[in-house]
Amino acid sequence: MPKKILITGGAGYIGSHIVNLLGKDEQYELTIYDNLSTGRKESVVSGELVVGEIEDLEKLEALIVDKKFDACFHFAGSIIVPESVEDPLKYYFNNTQNTLNLLNLCIKHKINNFIFSSTAAVYGINEDGICTEETPVSPINPYGKTKLMTEQLLEDLSIAYPDFNYVVLRYFNVAGASIDGSVGQCSPLSTHLIKIACETALGKREKMFINGDDYQTKDGTCVRDYIHTDDLASAHVASLEYLLEGGKSDLFNCGYGHGFTVKEVVDVVKKVSNVDFDVELGPRRAGDAPVLLAKSDKIKSVLGWNPEHDDLELIVRTALDWEKKLK
Ligand SMILES: NC(=O)c1ccc[n+]([C@@H]2O[C@H](COP(=O)([O-])OP(=O)(O)OC[C@H]3O[C@@H](n4cnc5c(N)ncnc54)[C@H](O)[C@@H]3O)[C@@H](O)[C@H]2O)c1
Repeated sequence: MPKKILITGGAGYIGSHIVNLLGKDEQYELTIYDNLSTGRKESVVSGELVVGEIEDLEKLEALIVDKKFDACFHFAGSIIVPESVEDPLKYYFNNTQNTLNLLNLCIKHKINNFIFSSTAAVYGINEDGICTEETPVSPINPYGKTKLMTEQLLEDLSIAYPDFNYVVLRYFNVAGASIDGSVGQCSPLSTHLIKIACETALGKREKMFINGDDYQTKDGTCVRDYIHTDDLASAHVASLEYLLEGGKSDLFNCGYGHGFTVKEVVDVVKKVSNVDFDVELGPRRAGDAPVLLAKSDKIKSVLGWNPEHDDLELIVRTALDWEKKLK
């Protein structure tokens, strides 16, 4: 009997990569629950798409009762940091309240394996910018705070309900598109550097901005840890296998442990696209840490995660190829 997996937000950027990968394995039967607010139905390349809103608890509960899921991936949420500062209620409703309601249903109907998309934003700004899972958390915007609240809720639930286990994955800078070319980033208002640079290279934007070049880094621009979406997808599959084999609740960073400056990324996009697009220097953005890198030893040793696409040019090439296809 295949394991039944509920995937909220599976029509979005990251969720669609997990659907793509898990869908290739007959051990799993996938149900994607998504309101298509930022996701697209064309991105659901496997499984059954149920178009629904997490807030619609009657519909969600009926689905859960009908399917009797073995595990849940929870990708659905709102993800734009500046928007979370301007409209915090949207984030507390969609990321905190909706997740609380979803978890309430999971506990009630014994979906005891839960995988949650968290973020490096929970770390806020720390001294050297290299984060282990033990680095103190201190998010500096509502987006990061809502994600941390879910992490804390999960921890409390796993104590109160010993059969309930979760994996929290704290993603660093997710980038690229699937190597097989079937899914990629469609998000209309993306703030992701590599997507913006690819859009500019293809003339979808007139120019792009670098936000500050006076940081204490080798060329003055911020350093980030860019992880390819297919490697992130394999981290999710490893998390699922871990939980289904009886693994206990745990939390892992997802990144490569080294990074690139904004200028280095822009140079790679120019090289791969062969377009010398316009880049202007803008002021620093409030709350940008100079350096943010993941220590990822834990996920490698506990889950046996083995990233295969730690290559910035490959990440950019897949993103650019995807962007060309995107209408
Ligand atoms: N993209 C990143 O770099 C990044 C980094 C760290 C963490 N994350 C987390 O990963 C998850 C997925 O991010 P993404 O980049 O794929 O974003 P996305 O916007 O592409 O995907 C989110 C999906 O959830 C759906 N959705 C949102 N609210 C919903 C609701 N109330 N009911 C039903 N469906 C709903 C959207 O339609 C969309 O398909 C998010 O939880 C995000 O916080 C993303």
